[in-house]
Amino acid sequence: MHVELARHERSRRSGWRWAWLAAAVLLASLANATQPTAARVDRQRLLAADKEPGNWMAHGRTYSEQRFSPLERINDGNVAQLGLAWHARLDIDHGTEATPLVIDGVMYTTGARSIVYAFDARSGTLLWKYDPKVPGDRLGKGCCDIVNRGVAAWNGRIYFASFDGRLIALDARRGRKVWEVQTVDLKRSYTVTGAPRIVNGKVIIGNGGAEFGVRGYVTAYDARNGRQAWRFYTVPAGPAKPGDDAVTKMMAASWPAGAVWAFGGGGTVWDSMAYDPQLNLLYLGVGNASPWNRYVRNPGRGDNLFLSSIVALNADNGRYVWHYQTTPNEGWDYTATQHLILADLPLGEQMVPVIMQAPKNGFFYVLDRRNGKLVSAQPFSKVTWATHVDLATGRPVENPDVSDYSQQAKLTWPGPLGAHNWNPMAYSPRTGLVYIPEQEAPFPYINDPNARFNRRGWNTGVTLPPAPEDAASVAQMLQLFKGSLLAWDPVQQKPAWKVPYKSPGNGGLLATAGNLVFQGTADGRFVAYSADKGETLWQTDAQSGIVAAPISYAVDGEQYIAVMVGWGGGFPRYAGQIAAQNQVRTVSRVLVYKLGGSQVLPALAALAPADPPPPSTADAATIDRGRQLFSAHCSFCHGAAAVSGGSVPDLRRMSVATRQSFAGIVLGGLRLQAGMPAFAELLSLPDVEAINAYLVKRAHDEIAERVQQSSATP
Ligand code: HEC
Repeated sequence: MHVELARHERSRRSGWRWAWLAAAVLLASLANATQPTAARVDRQRLLAADKEPGNWMAHGRTYSEQRFSPLERINDGNVAQLGLAWHARLDIDHGTEATPLVIDGVMYTTGARSIVYAFDARSGTLLWKYDPKVPGDRLGKGCCDIVNRGVAAWNGRIYFASFDGRLIALDARRGRKVWEVQTVDLKRSYTVTGAPRIVNGKVIIGNGGAEFGVRGYVTAYDARNGRQAWRFYTVPAGPAKPGDDAVTKMMAASWPAGAVWAFGGGGTVWDSMAYDPQLNLLYLGVGNASPWNRYVRNPGRGDNLFLSSIVALNADNGRYVWHYQTTPNEGWDYTATQHLILADLPLGEQMVPVIMQAPKNGFFYVLDRRNGKLVSAQPFSKVTWATHVDLATGRPVENPDVSDYSQQAKLTWPGPLGAHNWNPMAYSPRTGLVYIPEQEAPFPYINDPNARFNRRGWNTGVTLPPAPEDAASVAQMLQLFKGSLLAWDPVQQKPAWKVPYKSPGNGGLLATAGNLVFQGTADGRFVAYSADKGETLWQTDAQSGIVAAPISYAVDGEQYIAVMVGWGGGFPRYAGQIAAQNQVRTVSRVLVYKLGGSQVLPALAALAPADPPPPSTADAATIDRGRQLFSAHCSFCHGAAAVSGGSVPDLRRMSVATRQSFAGIVLGGLRLQAGMPAFAELLSLPDVEAINAYLVKRAHDEIAERVQQSSATP
């Protein structure tokens, strides 16, 4: 009986509890209804984005991706009064590539390791943070740093993709996860660094990893629940699955018999997309081949569709509509993943709806975006692999003296860093100019005819050249590398003005109606130029190299300019000797400026002087073996010839403690969470000792160079 009574009592109490719970839920939902929901972005709002210029609601601000802000309170007359409004430090100091969104006074952005942040856009107060906790063993699998280029917003949610390929939807107000879906096959070295785009309630995301050997595709997911809507593969699956529709047949025919499929084909869509709402076309920028080496991949010399192409799809079902291939039979890592801009240009008598791109291969393309017809193409940088683009055929005309590297190494402009990389351009409809972070960065392509696919490392089929180590050869090499801000007239296809920089690898662009262009530089400055003439009107010290593109927004009538700061990405890693000229380090932050802003960045702590290296006692053969192992396994992150470009630790200057745990770091994965892979599968202890011997030797080289330099200067 006692038992009965107790049960009755319990059920009575739980009945009360239910009533209370229901009331609480009702009250909470009433409170919700009166609180403005965050990030309420939808199709109507995005299409009318120019009516609310204070917000930056999509990656390139609007679907046309022009990165032009109509705000003009800050302009060429008052920009000299710009000062820091607020700044915020990110969790880890790594390459920082995101374009923030600002919606109704809240900034949503990402840092390295795919961490998402929401800040009060006026004060910089952190509202929430979401860390997708990417497993350490995935962080070493990217070519170009553990970066992320930003989020998308839709109907009260924030969408982003993690480095390990998950697409994640967060509730915009609190940053809590709503759903998550794995978008890549983890058996291959796929990574995701790009920002999703959202069209008609579908979240669209690509992927990367072509250097390691993957097959590229984009997928659209229902924004409400993460259900897959469609997927579009950019290269065929191989001869085993020929396919029967016209598009698959066209693709397959461009990969003649003999094509090597083990490397996956490549063609990853790792960054750019744009959308035309009238045509309902989604434009994709498609990446390079896997492997790069066309003599290994493509002995039949087919075009290999859709490598290095711009592809237009029906946004609702992902069906192919048209394509334009910038580099048929790609063989140089010439991605066409670079920024795509939609605009209407006065060409002849008419305004023509065009799509514009300055891909790695060095030509500036203007296409009719209704049908993909080439309007014009001219080199915007030094180009030696092709003489010109034939307007009748729409194809580049190769210069075989340079482009044929099957028998001997060919120093070629551009190289894999591209005449323009991912760093976004901007287009100002006021000046009619496109602003390009242009660069000259050649590369000696060397055919490795014996290249075989391996699951663990880089798979380019192109041998990395030995980097010069003596001062004279290094100086000679540095002469070849240049960077600039180039203002390009897309109608005339010629430069309007140009500002030279110390090196390649400078940041993305923002153009504003205030006749301004903003750009961060590799040497750690944030600069405002006049958009029409390229005069420097204002600049400030950002304490770190900048690679991301700035944005502008307004809250309560105050206009702000914001930029993500943090030296890193692909360039300062492999090209360490070139990047080191900028003498910057990586300090990852959001920096936000306004007229009369008076905040000051705290001074950076001075770097502790390097511990002296142990004596170099290894024999020449061991050092040489270490050099080769370093070049094959370490140089693309720690810099050719073991010179760091500032974004990763310089291995010539390791502390005594680091030297003691060297094998544990390299073989055992002690620094996995910071993006330093473990090499236990690839290297033995004697290998690691040889690498260490080479690094000790390089440490002594550096000390000797310093002594020489100081005795040379009077
Ligand atoms: C995918 C990029 C990548 C590759 C490849 C790579 N590293 Fe690293 N490594 C890193 C990063 C990033 C760090 C910084 C980790 C940190 O901040 O603690 C690092 C740190 C280190 C450190 C610690 C240095 C210090 O002073 O703290 C050592 C030692 C090291 N790496 C050795 C190597 C060696 C040897 C190889 C080749 C066998 C190699 N790494 C290949 C990215 C890489």
